[in-house]
Order: sequence, then C-alpha cells, then structure tokens
Amino acid sequence: MDGLVPRASLAIMTVFDTLWSELEPVGRCAATGGYRRFAYAPEELECREWFAAAAAQRGLDIETDRNGNLWAWWMPEGAAAREQALVIGSHLDSVPDGGAFDGPLGVVTSLAAIDAARASGFVPSRPIAVVVFADEEGARFGMPCAGSRLMTGQLHPDKARALVGRDGATMAEAMSAAGLDPRHLGPDEERLARVGAFVELHVEQGRSLIDSGASIGVATAIWPHGRYRFTFSGSADHAGTTRMQDRHDPMIPFAHTALSADSSARLSDSRATFGRIEVEPNGTNAIPSTVRAWLDARAMDQATLDELVGRISATAHEWANVNGTAIDVEVESSSGVLEFGGALRSRVAQVIADEQGKDTIPMLPTGAGHDAGILASAGVETAMIFVRNPTGVSHSPHEHAERDDCHAGVLALTAVIKDMA
Ligand code: GLV
Ligand code: MN
Ligand code: MN
Repeated sequence: MDGLVPRASLAIMTVFDTLWSELEPVGRCAATGGYRRFAYAPEELECREWFAAAAAQRGLDIETDRNGNLWAWWMPEGAAAREQALVIGSHLDSVPDGGAFDGPLGVVTSLAAIDAARASGFVPSRPIAVVVFADEEGARFGMPCAGSRLMTGQLHPDKARALVGRDGATMAEAMSAAGLDPRHLGPDEERLARVGAFVELHVEQGRSLIDSGASIGVATAIWPHGRYRFTFSGSADHAGTTRMQDRHDPMIPFAHTALSADSSARLSDSRATFGRIEVEPNGTNAIPSTVRAWLDARAMDQATLDELVGRISATAHEWANVNGTAIDVEVESSSGVLEFGGALRSRVAQVIADEQGKDTIPMLPTGAGHDAGILASAGVETAMIFVRNPTGVSHSPHEHAERDDCHAGVLALTAVIKDMA
C-alpha cells in the first residue's frame, strides 16, 4: 500500500479534515492562538452544539447524561438495549490557552472512524457510542475529569455543585446557566453498566512516539497525580515603609516552596508544578496578605508521590514558621496509579499493528490524567491510543499532530471498531 491510499480512505480523510476545520476556530484566542474552552462557558457550549450537529448528521442518537456528558449512539439494527457498548471519544474542554488536539482529536477521530466503518459496509454487533466527557481539564472549577468522576461515583454531587469557578460562579450555577439541571448530578450505574469497553484516542503529550518514529502508540499506565492548594497567609503592609525584619510576607514561604517543588521533583524523577497563583491584594507597592498557589504533582508510583508532596508541604510549613505567616494545604483532587488492563491494551495494540502492517507498536506510560483512567479505576475495560505529537508540547498552543498522523488515528480507531463491535 506504500504511497497509495485506497479510495475509501481518501473520502474518510476528507471527513476528518472537514470536521476538524469546523471545530478548529471555536474558542481560539486570536491573541495567543490558544484555546479557552471552559466547562459550560459559551465557547465550550458551542463545541457541544457542534458535536450534537455532527452526531445528528450521522443519524446518531444524541443525549446528555445527568452529569453533563454527551453520548452519541450508533445502535445496530434491531438492538433493544444499549448494553455492553463499545465507547470511544474524549473531551472538548481545554486548559487556559491549551492546544487544539488535547481532547478534540479523540472526538473528531471517533466520528470519522464511525463514518469509515460504515463506508466499508461494516455492521456492528453491539452498540457503539461516541462520548464527550464534561470538564475533563478541571480548568474552571479545579476538579479534573469532573464528568467521569461524577458518573462513576468518585466525586460527590454536593461537592461538585459547590465547586467555585474562577469567575465566582459555582458549578451548579454554571450548569443551570447552560440549560442543564445540576440537581441530578451523581453516580449513573445504569449507564456505566452499558459501557462494555472504553477506548480513548488522545494526542501524545510527550516525546515517546517522536523518539520511536511511530505515528501511533498504546498506553500502559497513568502515573498517580494530584492537585493541592497551598494558602499562605500573612499581613498586608506598605512596601516602602515596612522594615524587612518586620514583615510577614507570604510570598517568601511560597517562593521557597516553589523552589523545593522543582528540586524535589528533579531528585525523584517526578513532576511538580505551581502553574497557578493568586496574590492578594495584588498591588505592586503592597506586601501581600495572601498567596494561594496550586501544586500539580505526579510520580511513577504512589509512595514517590506521597514523599514528594510531603517534602514540598514540609518546606511550606518550615518557611511559614520562619517568617511568621500561616500555611494551609488542601488536597483538591487525587488519582492513584492506573495500569491499563493487559488483555484489552494488548488486543488494541495488535489490531492497530495489523492495520499498519507492523509486528508491534510502541507501548507507553503517561503522566497525564484522562477520563479513561477514571473509567478504568471504576472497573470498566479501558484502553488508550496515542497519536504522535511532533512538538512533544501539550497544554500550550504549540501542541500539534500532523494531518497524516491524525488520519492514522482514524484508521486505528476504525480497526478497533471493526474488531470489537
Ligand atoms: C490533563 O490533561 C492533565 O493531566 O492535567
Ligand atoms: Mn489536558
Ligand atoms: Mn485530554
């Protein structure tokens, strides 16, 4: 097949390109080139509308579940119940100034793969659904994978409803404003029981596939990770008149804590990031009264993660003590280590290798969190497919996937559909 793309595939690539170009402008900030698609905000709602329209065009039955997740169903002829479905898909929300591919690539390839399977005459023997999980990034309310956590009972609905977004609105208020009813949030066992397997395709967020020269890989595991809110409290005072020895400046323990995060993570080959801080009163000529800083920490195993976070917290407490400020550390979310089940991941890898005419494809762990991890930890058979990212950069406008690799992703998902459904 070298250099030759079959006719059917060409049409399918056009489907991918068309869907991609429809979605691409939605929520993109002209100044930065990054995406701002925050849960239940207008840009994200526009993404949802786009998805509903694309699903309707394909005759898929679209529904929004009680937790704000979208499902588009391809029901086989005569199927009575939506049981033991093969579910594919991902998410459409983004981090602040995120890339175009994190989430949407999994959704667009899923729709194109459905078209491809149909075009080849394939008739499924079980239901197939494309899912768009709500609020995967947790960029607005601080809770990653809120939609899948709620569905699987890993996030209490009261806690979810009360989460306060950066704009001051709670999740309940934001959902209501978006026309959704937050009173029904919570575990959805019936729906979960219908998910026979979930296969999430995602852009790779590192360099493994570039290094191995492969367009597609399959996930082995997700590192344990968590988000921790550090609140340093001191006393606001005049920047010019307050002697250095009289200050209770919370920026100082924060600065030492950020340095500790960096050095501790380097020493344990882990990851620690303070990517977001809030300073009050945030005046150039005022000593701050409060510094709130969010630590994102990840490691290859739970013991290493616990030790890392413990060390960073200890530094925060030591330095707060030294300069007479207070410190409070709160865990906002945490996810344990997740090994993708060997049977499904091997099957998916073999199907893709066969489709590509190869013996094997790369198998790789990731430090990024995904709804697939949440479903797997709830006992759903789950696998992840990664598409090469030539920049290796993610959560940034520089995130990228070449069009040929996106098309390889469509073919990989199509092969999975045909094998599993
Ligand atoms: C999701 O992308 C995460 O790992 O933060
Ligand atoms: Mn992400
Ligand atoms: Mn993602």
